[in-house]
Amino acid sequence: MTLTRSTVRGIGSYLPARTVTNAELSTTVDTSDEWIVQRTGIRQRHVAADGETTSMLATRAAQAALADAGLSAADIDMIVLATSTPDYTFPATATQVQEAIGMHHGAAFDLQAVCSGFVFAVATADKFIVTGAARRVLVIGAETFSRILDWDDRGTCVLFGDGAGAVILEAQDGAGTVADRGVLSSHLRSDGRHRAKLYVDGGPSSTMTTGHLRMEGREVFKHAVGMVTDVIRDAFAATGTDGEALDWFVPHQANKRIIDASAHKLGIASDKVVITVDRHGNTSAASIPLALDVAVKDGRIKRGDLVMIEAMGGGFTWGSALIRW
Ligand code: ACO
Repeated sequence: MTLTRSTVRGIGSYLPARTVTNAELSTTVDTSDEWIVQRTGIRQRHVAADGETTSMLATRAAQAALADAGLSAADIDMIVLATSTPDYTFPATATQVQEAIGMHHGAAFDLQAVCSGFVFAVATADKFIVTGAARRVLVIGAETFSRILDWDDRGTCVLFGDGAGAVILEAQDGAGTVADRGVLSSHLRSDGRHRAKLYVDGGPSSTMTTGHLRMEGREVFKHAVGMVTDVIRDAFAATGTDGEALDWFVPHQANKRIIDASAHKLGIASDKVVITVDRHGNTSAASIPLALDVAVKDGRIKRGDLVMIEAMGGGFTWGSALIRW
């Protein structure tokens, strides 16, 4: 049976030039490199320059993905951009990127699922492609979390960073088996009962301000491993695969302890786990495409490899997608 699959045609990413080390943070809040590394695995994060917005980071990532694919804006039908830190309340940051890359056709919209945004965006783009509504979709995760952090709150300001990553998904015929290239399955979940554990205390309709990120870190940690392993097991069940069958595990980069515990529970060998949280911190919706780009560019992820992506974040939202590269 022939089936349309959403295959990865190109990938790119962009990080702001400025890095902030744990040592630098320890000069402004009561923390230490040792504490941050031990609890999270984070050693540094990138922070956008004054005036450098989410759409600017996203545009750089999009241009890199287009170059990697050998395509131009004219070849793209749709942009889906995952972010919780848009340039403006409206219009959508995706339309700013659309304009910046010179695309004046098709549709562009933002999607908000916090740290799970990229997985939700891939799943959304996949639905447009497999139904024939779009042939090529530019999927972007881009964030400037530095703008919503309370830089006096050591419990949160040490965790996050800025950046952007993008992939181009393209329709291709497959045989309908797990040997096909492309998105093989995606599973999305959310549960609004957990809102107060991770949220931003502002917004246009509530406070008319942007607000700051607030988190009960221990509570988030408690739920994270169970939620992501559940939704990965859904992907395994849907595709007849397991932890051993994976070539690469590219989780949302929030915390190395969450990643290690999830991989262990799923029987995924540690040398198959892509880790960038040490260099990037938690870049929310950007973390997975940033990590994918690192592992593609350094030669680890190759065409035909079986790659599991997963994330969990505010809402809570969580999800997984199994992709044959
Ligand atoms: N430096 C030094 N001490 C700190 C810091 C810091 N940066 N932050 C908190 N502490 C202190 C606390 O004040 C507390 O001190 P006390 O015992 O005197 O009260 C102590 O460290 C322990 O605090 P906890 O919050 O209980 O520390 P915990 O071991 O839970 O680690 C952490 C905190 C790293 C945030 C952890 O809970 C975590 O990683 N949670 C997951 C959160 C996460 O990844 N969120 C990302 C968004 S969601 C997602 O992407 C999955």
